[in-house]
Amino acid sequence: MSFETEIEKRRTFAIISHPDAGKTTLTEKLLLFGGAIQTAGAVKSNKIKKTATSDFMEIEKQRGISVATSVMAFKYNGKQINILDTPGHKDFAEDTYRTLTAVDSVILIIDCASGVEEQTRKLMEVCRMRQTPVIVFINKMDREGRDAFDLLDELENELKIKVRPLSWPIGIGHTFQGVYTIFNKELNLFSANKTNISDDIINIDDVNAPLVDEMIGEEAATTLREELELVEGVYDEFKVEDYLDGNVAPVFFGSAINNFGVKELLEAFLEISPSPIGRESNIGFIEPNNDKFSGFVFKIHANLDPKHRDRIAFLRIVSGKFERNKFYNHSRIDKKIKFANPTSFMAQDKSIIDEAYPGDVIGLYDTGTFKIGDSLSEGVKLQYKGIPSFSPEIFMELENKDPMKAKQLDKGIKQLTDEGVAQLFIQQPGNRKIVGTVGQLQFEVIQYRLEHEYGAKCSFTPKRYFKACWMTTHNEEQLNKFIRAKTQHIAKDKDDNYVFLAETPFLLQMAQQDYPDITFHFTSDFKIKTKA
Ligand code: G4P
Repeated sequence: MSFETEIEKRRTFAIISHPDAGKTTLTEKLLLFGGAIQTAGAVKSNKIKKTATSDFMEIEKQRGISVATSVMAFKYNGKQINILDTPGHKDFAEDTYRTLTAVDSVILIIDCASGVEEQTRKLMEVCRMRQTPVIVFINKMDREGRDAFDLLDELENELKIKVRPLSWPIGIGHTFQGVYTIFNKELNLFSANKTNISDDIINIDDVNAPLVDEMIGEEAATTLREELELVEGVYDEFKVEDYLDGNVAPVFFGSAINNFGVKELLEAFLEISPSPIGRESNIGFIEPNNDKFSGFVFKIHANLDPKHRDRIAFLRIVSGKFERNKFYNHSRIDKKIKFANPTSFMAQDKSIIDEAYPGDVIGLYDTGTFKIGDSLSEGVKLQYKGIPSFSPEIFMELENKDPMKAKQLDKGIKQLTDEGVAQLFIQQPGNRKIVGTVGQLQFEVIQYRLEHEYGAKCSFTPKRYFKACWMTTHNEEQLNKFIRAKTQHIAKDKDDNYVFLAETPFLLQMAQQDYPDITFHFTSDFKIKTKA
């Protein structure tokens, strides 16, 4: 198979949603279609039970499960599909944001009763920032939910993206009869059946045909016709380019648990979603068909066995062919390294691979050589941009509880932050360590892992910061003046960038007013271009 064909047949994407909208269920159904699993229930939910936020065993289980299901690869209709899993728990949101840098598109699930929720909004913000193509799946149509037009309006208003329904529901909840797929004019009749793989599908040339009345009843048929007319009147014609540019999100309706509407979603997805796209690097935009291998690490996972500190680095291949035992440049540390045991994640079994292509994600055993965001390349050295750090929401000062173990603590917190468990900001004087996270749970993870993996004990003192802001300016003098004036609230991030730790929105606003030449950013991604 030619190199171009290998690239073209790949689809690398993530399924994202607010917890409970149906991500685990939909993932499982997609894997059933691909034959990657045979029975329902094989995909474990990676949710930490809401009631057990401080249960360390749950944290450990979560780590174990999420390694196993980090990447789920399967084949369907000649396509090679890589689903990148994202953690369900909101305290791990930062992990999800990073994973989104490694995909080419996403499927966003909305619960038809809840509509747009908090996590949906945040995830969509990241997609918008990166112009990631989004397909929306409105789930749980077998349950009582909201009116389809209302949901679509809410999507447009709250997520700030245009939508375009490509299927349309017939009723909802107890009146739900199925969906009409607009793009290929099929009537897909609903039957509640969790193990169902094929649905009752009828081709309809004309929605006005009497057959439609026969199948769903006169009243539902009339409503369907009226609503379809309204859809055509309200929404612009669907253009694949608008979706690929991240400007329009096509919408499908269904019920994941009943495996209803899932096949249509998958097939439409395979037809319109992008094959692997290139990424911006420090030496320009690298296309996937560039024959020199390159890729970047977007996730690092600690080994489950605390006695062995080796880790798995997840690398997304951007260009060229990756080969086992071939030397590649590791730009940041300026070394050439090769990998004897790179793994793929086909059908949940980790197995050693000899080669991999753009869009693929491979696991590299790591003994501490990788940080999130590191790049590997063949030939020229390069560094990919765009593994963003978002401003944490909770800040604590890390204090050493055992002076004899200061070194272990330093090493441990450094490695954990390299893995992306939290962000570390160093404040002077005194090298004070401010740890920032998006959720409370990470502090428990850090404390637990420092003790069990590094033998170091720590405590945390809350810091009342509102945001960490990265800064850019064309007026260096003003920036230096600001840094001097605000020493107590200035720290350095892992890359030695200055950040301003703003205590309140008001104080940030004051800083913006008093230092108009400084731009304050809530993400370190401010300079990044994601498309050619
Ligand atoms: P998540 O990964 O996005 O958090 O959601 P998950 O798939 O775990 O689904 C959350 C709950 O919603 C599950 O119920 C699941 O069975 C249910 N669900 C998913 N899709 C549908 C659907 O199309 N219709 C209906 N009615 N329910 C759906 P649970 O009670 O929390 O868990 P379980 O005991 O069923 O596993």
